[in-house]
Amino acid sequence: MRRAAAVIDLSAVRANLRQIRALAGNAAVMAVVKADAYGHGMGPVARAARREGAEWLGVALPSEALALRAMGDEGRILAWLWSPGDPDIAACVRAGIDLSVSSGWALEEVIEASRRVGTRAHVQVKVDTGLSRNGVTLEQLPDLLDAVAQAMIDGDIDVEAVWSHLADGDTPGSESALRQVEHYLAALELAEGRGIRPRLRHLSNSGGLWAHPDCRFDLVRTGIAMYGLTPAPILGDSRDLGLTPAMSLVARLAGIKGVVAGTGVSYGGTWSAPAETALGLVPIGYADGLPRAAGNLLDVAVDGRRYPIVGRVAMDQFVIDLGAHELPHVGDDVYVFGPGQHGERTADEWAAALDTIGYEVVTRIGPRVHREYVEEGS
Ligand SMILES: Cc1ncc(COP(=O)(O)O)c(C=O)c1O
Repeated sequence: MRRAAAVIDLSAVRANLRQIRALAGNAAVMAVVKADAYGHGMGPVARAARREGAEWLGVALPSEALALRAMGDEGRILAWLWSPGDPDIAACVRAGIDLSVSSGWALEEVIEASRRVGTRAHVQVKVDTGLSRNGVTLEQLPDLLDAVAQAMIDGDIDVEAVWSHLADGDTPGSESALRQVEHYLAALELAEGRGIRPRLRHLSNSGGLWAHPDCRFDLVRTGIAMYGLTPAPILGDSRDLGLTPAMSLVARLAGIKGVVAGTGVSYGGTWSAPAETALGLVPIGYADGLPRAAGNLLDVAVDGRRYPIVGRVAMDQFVIDLGAHELPHVGDDVYVFGPGQHGERTADEWAAALDTIGYEVVTRIGPRVHREYVEEGS
């Protein structure tokens, strides 16, 4: 191993997908692999998801969808976020990628691309049922649906889905999710009234699998659960949900030095050794996506024992207090977070301490950190 690696357990990804499939019932599964598969590496995760039978891959950006095609994926893919003039729309239409449409300008761009390419574009109409992000509002939906129906008649598009996204998908019994379902059903009726009968209806993300099983409809879009992290602590931790975190962030101990009591550590000397001790140097920092706020707050594991991060996390490195224990060795593996097999905390525990979500902890791990893939039996 180099100085640091994110070791991705593809068997865990696949096992998590089996757990998701069991909860999804008859609904198809869309494996969400945007943002480089939440930092896990889009290509290997997408291949593992397909091997596990994922019918769809989901990404935010058209460029991400094209990257999947360039990696050889020939299955159904949905891309849902772009701005006017995105240069990849025609290529997506040519590549048979589904494009989400939630406004008149987006529909016009897709129609224009379809005519240029000479094939019907696959469109999924996204409705804002309460999240207030992208998605057409219920007020504007009738006009958009009229234009969609006309584009179908003109032979420019096929409508694969009318879909939406939950704001409170991970909160059991949430009123807002119930309201969103009502709005969603109203949107489907408006579509039906114009002869638009989508093959797929989808609303649920990972959290909805546990918190709102009634939202599964024909397909569930799942990201965080596939990576083995909890959609929200209120639902339980990974273990409670039958999931295994797929990413282990590991670094190689790059130095050990003894210091006397009172020695200040890292920028600003925010921590000083209370007694004579040994410090370990871990060669990974905020340039790698490790949160700077972890300094003086979190710990890492070496050889099954936890050591506190002392002083500020720097751009490329941080320091741990090795204390009075038997010292590890330079070159030993330092487990920053992972499934916990080596005594390390999980990404979800990091998130809780840092007042963020597991999504952010893993997705931030940047391209300087080498990805290594392990899979049982390979
Ligand atoms: C539209 C959409 N669907 C599904 C997902 C997957 O969500 P999760 O990772 O909570 O399963 C996301 C992720 O943010 C999303 O933006």
